[in-house]
Amino acid sequence: MEYKITLFKVHMPKSVIKPLKNTLLSGFIGQGPKVEEFENILGNYIGNKYVLTLNSCTSAIQLALRLCNVGFGDEVISTAMTCTATNEPILALDAKIIWADINPTTGNIDPKSIKNKITNKTKAIIAMHWGGYPPDLKEINIIAKEYGIKVIEDAAHAFGAEYQGQKIGNHSDFVCFSFQAIKHINTVDGGALFCKSEEDYKRGKLLRWYGIDREEKDRSDHRLEKDIKEYGYKFHMNDVCATIGIEQMKFIDKILEKNRANINTLNNAFQNNNKIKLLSYKNDRLSAYWLYTILIKNKDDFKTKMNEKGIMVSPVHARNDSHTMFQEFRCELPNVDKFYSEMICIPSGWWLKNEEIEYIIKTINEGW
Ligand SMILES: Cc1ncc(COP(=O)(O)O)c(C=O)c1O
Repeated sequence: MEYKITLFKVHMPKSVIKPLKNTLLSGFIGQGPKVEEFENILGNYIGNKYVLTLNSCTSAIQLALRLCNVGFGDEVISTAMTCTATNEPILALDAKIIWADINPTTGNIDPKSIKNKITNKTKAIIAMHWGGYPPDLKEINIIAKEYGIKVIEDAAHAFGAEYQGQKIGNHSDFVCFSFQAIKHINTVDGGALFCKSEEDYKRGKLLRWYGIDREEKDRSDHRLEKDIKEYGYKFHMNDVCATIGIEQMKFIDKILEKNRANINTLNNAFQNNNKIKLLSYKNDRLSAYWLYTILIKNKDDFKTKMNEKGIMVSPVHARNDSHTMFQEFRCELPNVDKFYSEMICIPSGWWLKNEEIEYIIKTINEGW
């Protein structure tokens, strides 16, 4: 199927070529000064200097779980309404997933359901930002504090989102972002982990590169003699990816502004369409709008008809509890049932021309 209007687009400015060439031919392409520069830019943008760039958001989630000391038999409360990348790292650490239900008007994890699922084995909560819209972070962090549990935000969809006057990246113990190809900004592949505490940040810095201290002054024999206290990963970002990230960051404000303007237009156009229900967003937070999700009764029919008209629409993520790898954790999730039966995402991003937005509106409002 050839789509005229796609759900995603890779953002790659031509201006990246010159700095990229310089880095590629510089004689240093591993984790070095460009990574540090990118981290400084990200830290200033978000307002949190405890940032670790990594090779993916999946790595960021796994590293965050390690920093929470999640291990064999521990329980992690999470949502099934997400990308499998949110939950596969829990299995990688031999821990158990406990699904909490969601708010069916936003797609985000429900704090009341989280509270009902806490046991003395609960080590962490993963709160994912569906489509870029922040979950109830205040309520979630209050519950976590009460029970001594850590909060990890999966903000893969939410770079640039805001909650109660602050950019996402400041509210919980750990916040994970994705710079994968089709996200707001990309480093081809990449991610970042923002930590609340200096202690977690310092430990994370070691664990992202085999547990070895790269800042160690004595490099006489490639750090061979330094004792490694705790096993780590090869999760770090390199200077080539960071060079792309530095260039991409010059465009982030425009990308977010255009996403939000497009969604404003779409919301206004569908306001009086009684076949469509819009998600219900509060005004104490600002979505980064990676996805524009609507609720519709006969979504399979809608999908077929929209695809025939050249407009790509999709649920984007399958509910995770449907996968065999997660089958032992299945439980009743009535609001996931409700949301998943009606939700579908339609194109809305920064790349759409005005006439394309008009075509989407006309196709949908004239009865698809
Ligand atoms: C919600 C969510 N979490 C995590 C990820 C993983 O991101 P990455 O591809 O950077 O590992 C994705 C990827 O799309 C995602 O949508």
